[in-house]
Amino acid sequence: MQQKILILGTGGTIAGMAEDAEHPGKYRAAQLSIGALAAAIPGIEKAAGGSLDAQQLAQIDSKDMDDTVWLALLHACDKALHDDAVAGIVITHGTDTLEETAWFLHSCLGRLPKPVVLTCAMRPANALMPDGPQNLKDAVLAAAARTAAGAPLLTEVVAITGGGELHSAQWLQKAHPHRLMAFSSGEQGAIGWVGSEGVRLRDGQVPGGLTTAKASLAVPSLPAPEAWPWVEIITSHAGARAAAVDALLAQGVQGLVVATTGDGTVHEALQPALARARSQGVPVWRSSRCSEGVISGGRLPVHADLGAELAVALNPYKARVSLQLALLGALR
Ligand code: SIN
Repeated sequence: MQQKILILGTGGTIAGMAEDAEHPGKYRAAQLSIGALAAAIPGIEKAAGGSLDAQQLAQIDSKDMDDTVWLALLHACDKALHDDAVAGIVITHGTDTLEETAWFLHSCLGRLPKPVVLTCAMRPANALMPDGPQNLKDAVLAAAARTAAGAPLLTEVVAITGGGELHSAQWLQKAHPHRLMAFSSGEQGAIGWVGSEGVRLRDGQVPGGLTTAKASLAVPSLPAPEAWPWVEIITSHAGARAAAVDALLAQGVQGLVVATTGDGTVHEALQPALARARSQGVPVWRSSRCSEGVISGGRLPVHADLGAELAVALNPYKARVSLQLALLGALR
């Protein structure tokens, strides 16, 4: 059977249009359909190694990303992972919350029998030199890449964010508001590159897969978005006030991630309020607000950490996603 690459469009700058192509900084995200974007890229079917299917899953600026679109994405990935006609999945997404969606999907899907590759752009589709077409073609190449034995090369959720760089969902982070190469994985670096010669994984990455964990097709079943728990990020900063935590508790927040200073430290004014949260059964996890590195003792959460004073090896935005999934009983 000839297999295809499935492209799921969710909007973003990659589908954006500027009023004046000479001033691409002024544009509206999420204007062009994924079908129109893909159809305009020369050689994209060849990059897919066969055929393509483009489906519009959402059409939003990713600053407005929500649990409803995440659930739809999870269901679409689940369906495609079980479909023998699909060899790999590409998701187009805005840059602003791409790292959160990548981490959500990675957390729900685990190690994959087929690649799931997210991509994006910093310039709208009608800029004089748009970056989206190359990024999308690179993502399709990555999703179609095979080992010498014919197995999918990538078996975790990854992202192509510019310059052919391939980043893991765990470390990827938007690091600049308008630079063309806006993403970084900090001191971890890119895990590989896509170029005219195909996909090259960095030395030390496992060929035929980025981890040794067992691939699985069991996607957690999540309830409707209305039933997802409310988890907020509270930042420890100069002049922090306990009243911010108390206000969230009074409104029924169900989980808190503290974006701590430096190596996991929290302003003394916040500490009694966070202790009150814990005593009310609201889990409180810590994650550093530093843009690189992980706090001492930081690790990836597991379900049993719900009651723990956990130091998380993720940025606060991804730690929030993990805590939400832990409260849903869906953390893999
Ligand atoms: C968005 O995140 O949807 C808009 C910004 C971007 O894609 O660069």
